[in-house]
Amino acid sequence: MNDAENRLIVALDYPSWPDAEKMVGLLPEVKFFKVGLELYLASRGEAVRRLREAGKEVFLDLKFHDIPHTVAQASRQAALQGASIINVHAAGGREMMTKAAQAVKEQAEKARIQKPLLVAITVLTSLNEEDLEEIGLGRTEKTVPAWARLALEAGLDGVVASPQEIQLIRKSCGPDFKIICPGVRPAWSDTGDQKRVLTPGEAMELGADFIVVGRPITRAEKPREAALRIMDEMKKGLARRYSP
Ligand code: C5P
Repeated sequence: MNDAENRLIVALDYPSWPDAEKMVGLLPEVKFFKVGLELYLASRGEAVRRLREAGKEVFLDLKFHDIPHTVAQASRQAALQGASIINVHAAGGREMMTKAAQAVKEQAEKARIQKPLLVAITVLTSLNEEDLEEIGLGRTEKTVPAWARLALEAGLDGVVASPQEIQLIRKSCGPDFKIICPGVRPAWSDTGDQKRVLTPGEAMELGADFIVVGRPITRAEKPREAALRIMDEMKKGLARRYSP
């Protein structure tokens, strides 16, 4: 279970595939990369294909949020891109998530491909309690586990959430529901615009399945060293999680 290298997802937030490709080349130990809106659009989808060709796993982070039919149809297309994880916003509600989950399952069966994990974004880790109040959302301790439960009931495989909410989500959704955590910052790096943060070791110890790390690796002076250091912290966190 101490497989930190399968649980670190590096966010490739770049304006072109050649920029991203350079970073991928600097990180031979990293197996999983996240392609978000910027890189997906800039490369016209090419980034996912190129990463797959390089033998890497992809989290395609397009965060769909629209009416149920539109999201279901978009999710069908996302399922065909070759990613291992795709996502929608839980804020889109039960029907939107249910239709998306059905569409992804159907599409994967039809195309005879492995079904990607479909996960829901809960509350963005860049929002703190004041931001949430301003946009009329309740406190994270209530909103996040409730939205995670809704995602589980709608047939999704997991959620994206702050590591600070792992324990609440485990309580409401059980041990098999996947929890992917951005908002992870090693003690030795800047927090940037992330507000609800924990370290990689803490996130693993608390029960995250995956962590998503961008700038602490991609903007580090020595990205490979930063990635290896983070994996080492993750291993220690996993050892603490599984120690009796
Ligand atoms: O650079 P940094 O480590 O903050 O990158 C985090 C990545 O995770 C970004 O690509 C961001 O879009 C993404 N993300 C997030 N919070 C969420 C969902 C995704 O920060 N709730």
